[in-house]
Amino acid sequence: MTNSIPNFYDPVNFEEVCEHFAGIIREYLNKAVRGEEIPVITRKSPAQMLEEWNEQIPKEGVGFTKGIELVKRVIDDSIHIHHPRYMGHQVCGPLPLTILCDMIMSMLNNSSVVFEMGQVATTLELRLTQWVCDLIGYPSDAGGIITSGGSVGNLTALLAARQVMCGGNVWQDGYLETARRPAILVSKQAHYCVKRAVQIMGLGADGAVTVDVDAEYRMDMDALKEAYRKTTESGRKVIAVVASGCTTATGTFDPINDIADFCEYHKLWLHVDGAHGAAALLSPKYRDLLKGIERADSVVWDLHKMLLMPSLLTAVCFRKKAHSYSTFAQEASYLFTAAPEEEWFNIAHRTLECTKPMLALKAYISLMSYGSAVFGDYITNCFDLAHIFADILEKADDFVIAVRPDCNIVCFRYEPANCPAEKIDQLQRDIRQQILDEGNFYIVQTVLHEKQYLRVTLINPLTKEADLLLLLENIRKIGGNKLAGIG
Ligand SMILES: Cc1ncc(COP(=O)(O)O)c(C=O)c1O
Repeated sequence: MTNSIPNFYDPVNFEEVCEHFAGIIREYLNKAVRGEEIPVITRKSPAQMLEEWNEQIPKEGVGFTKGIELVKRVIDDSIHIHHPRYMGHQVCGPLPLTILCDMIMSMLNNSSVVFEMGQVATTLELRLTQWVCDLIGYPSDAGGIITSGGSVGNLTALLAARQVMCGGNVWQDGYLETARRPAILVSKQAHYCVKRAVQIMGLGADGAVTVDVDAEYRMDMDALKEAYRKTTESGRKVIAVVASGCTTATGTFDPINDIADFCEYHKLWLHVDGAHGAAALLSPKYRDLLKGIERADSVVWDLHKMLLMPSLLTAVCFRKKAHSYSTFAQEASYLFTAAPEEEWFNIAHRTLECTKPMLALKAYISLMSYGSAVFGDYITNCFDLAHIFADILEKADDFVIAVRPDCNIVCFRYEPANCPAEKIDQLQRDIRQQILDEGNFYIVQTVLHEKQYLRVTLINPLTKEADLLLLLENIRKIGGNKLAGIG
């Protein structure tokens, strides 16, 4: 029997493969970054994609040359997020340096959950999360971990809240000893993963009590008080409030400081879902949007959103590090030998994940290489650009915005005078469909107060005001044709 696998590790062959891949990446970046010779997206239907990607996994390999062709096809069929006219969801075009760091991460494949299995990986994770704790303004007994994404991060933080706030030992005994069913108060505009986390925790669909927002989509403080009163009167025990910093749809920051006052008064856990908006911590100009964040018991920040990191890289930080140890208290003699607090270097005591790659590497190397100030400038620029865009939209008589943006997310509608009111929602949907079909821009949509809006996240450092003006020109052209019954 032949054994070819050892040949695949041959460093000389690998160098040749590297050259091909470097060439492919260079070519992609060259086109995408300039926004030329490459669309943002070449849209295909799910059926068409399955049809085109119908090759069976062969028993004998297709060979390196064909393999490279497949990689090129993957790039062609993907959304080109580095393109300046990608302005869709909160996903960033990763810094080229981080692409290479991910290669090193994969090569070493050291885990960052148990010190013995990855001493650098663990150390970098502790160092990176310490930096985030310091940015938040937490005291010296704070601490954090990295999770695979904001959804897992929010769940991890809320599991800690449950353990600390429910009374008894829910982790050990379930809810048996909990006299009253726990509930968590969360804004109507919170990301869906928060409600999902609450349901995963077995608190039921009504375990996440939604709090109304004001006209600017911020958690309404009167509504929060009312929700607390009603929930408590119904016999449930409110254990936590989740503040959005910021919300996904409109990028609105809840009044964290006021919510912190409320939580302090009622002795509730305050969690800030800063998956997108905690990046403002780095911007001297916009940091105040997060006023009071240092009072939160836990904070989540996705570095794969506004820190130009590839997915997934989420910091989950606790004002009192000790709180995070009780969340998953578990024996596993093959991994752990002592109590969690004594084994502060074994991060698995505090994470849902068991195996976890050296996720902190890319952020650590980027921050050390470039310094944190450039990221602060990038965040400030993105937020500034959104304000400029909002000004342009407000001045135009055929566009309206849903709300003045707090950060780099803008929701708006095309409302030309000749469009009947009952057709305006459909017009937005049609325009977006055609924009994606044409492939020159990637924008998204959302519904607010039952109205259909177009939505952009200005997350790409390469996007300029000129790209936004071009977008509006495109929308006018497509919208005009739709209204005239053309196209
Ligand atoms: C406010 C907020 N929280 C949580 C999430 C979920 O994060 P992830 O996609 O990393 O799981 C998102 C995603 O966009 C978000 O905007």
